[in-house]
Amino acid sequence: MEDLKGKVAVVTGGAGGIGKAICHRFGIEGMRVVVADLDRAGLDETVAELREHGFDATGLVTDVTKRESLDALREGTLEAYGAVHVLCNNAGIANTSFGNVWEHENVDWRWSLEVHLIGVINGCAAFVPWMLESRHEGHIVNTVSGNGGIVPLPASAPYAVAKGAVVTYTECLWAQLRDLDARIGVSLLFPSGYTPGLLNTGIWNQSARPVEFAPSKPKPPRRGLELFMEQTRAAGREVQFTPLEEVADQVAVGIQRDQFWMIAPSDRSDMQIRARAESMIGRHHPTYMKD
Ligand SMILES: NC(=O)c1ccc[n+]([C@@H]2O[C@H](COP(=O)([O-])OP(=O)(O)OC[C@H]3O[C@@H](n4cnc5c(N)ncnc54)[C@H](O)[C@@H]3O)[C@@H](O)[C@H]2O)c1
Repeated sequence: MEDLKGKVAVVTGGAGGIGKAICHRFGIEGMRVVVADLDRAGLDETVAELREHGFDATGLVTDVTKRESLDALREGTLEAYGAVHVLCNNAGIANTSFGNVWEHENVDWRWSLEVHLIGVINGCAAFVPWMLESRHEGHIVNTVSGNGGIVPLPASAPYAVAKGAVVTYTECLWAQLRDLDARIGVSLLFPSGYTPGLLNTGIWNQSARPVEFAPSKPKPPRRGLELFMEQTRAAGREVQFTPLEEVADQVAVGIQRDQFWMIAPSDRSDMQIRARAESMIGRHHPTYMKD
């Protein structure tokens, strides 16, 4: 989709760091934007900010874990703008439990899988039939992570397992849309940028757990970004940040170029991809997990 101007985009998790940056970029491109998020206060604030910049934005409270909520999002989008061209399935939460894979509670797995994997499945199930029927040019961007999308960090398995599954789901989505000669592009966003560093987003904070995913005993408090920065400084290093605009740039340019793998240039990512592929081809143990 080369021309973004006037197109309608829906961004789940749009009230948070990366999603909000994508909404801003879409606004700059002259797109009409539907911001979808569970966080009503953040949603109102984001929509107000976008409108202050003169962008055409609408906010719809959405829970990606519920299929009916995604159906309502589609209907609300059609009511507001009459079409949908771009869907970014981006909502996410911090890792739900740290430790050994056999020790996490069932709810830890379910919360991560429901938001990250079922959230994407629900988004596509609600929007793709309409997008196909409309015959408009369209594009779907599913946000994953190097953690699970390339090589998992074993300590955060609930997060990594879900993101790995989204990669597989999205490969299947791409192939099936190609079989139909659909005018819908598909991408996997691995959030990072051209400037090396961390992404300063809400995911560093403890996400508020819905009661349906309440653990049987309280979890130890999460190490937030401030604590991480303090510790890094104490070790004599400064934390570097990647501007979120750089992530959003990859999304806008990636859609225009119909780029499936939205992975910023990175020697480290390339090394991990090669190490994993070579381990499989050589039938070796996954020693890249220990590097
Ligand atoms: N920040 C990073 O370093 C990083 C790295 C790789 C991947 N990601 C991924 O990027 C995406 C965006 O995360 P972020 O870093 O901007 O975090 P963030 O916390 O700033 O934003 C995530 C947003 O998702 C919303 N959300 C959570 N559960 C939801 C639900 N059930 N329904 C609807 N919305 C819900 C939150 O309210 C929040 O606004 C996530 O998928 C995350 O896994 C982030």
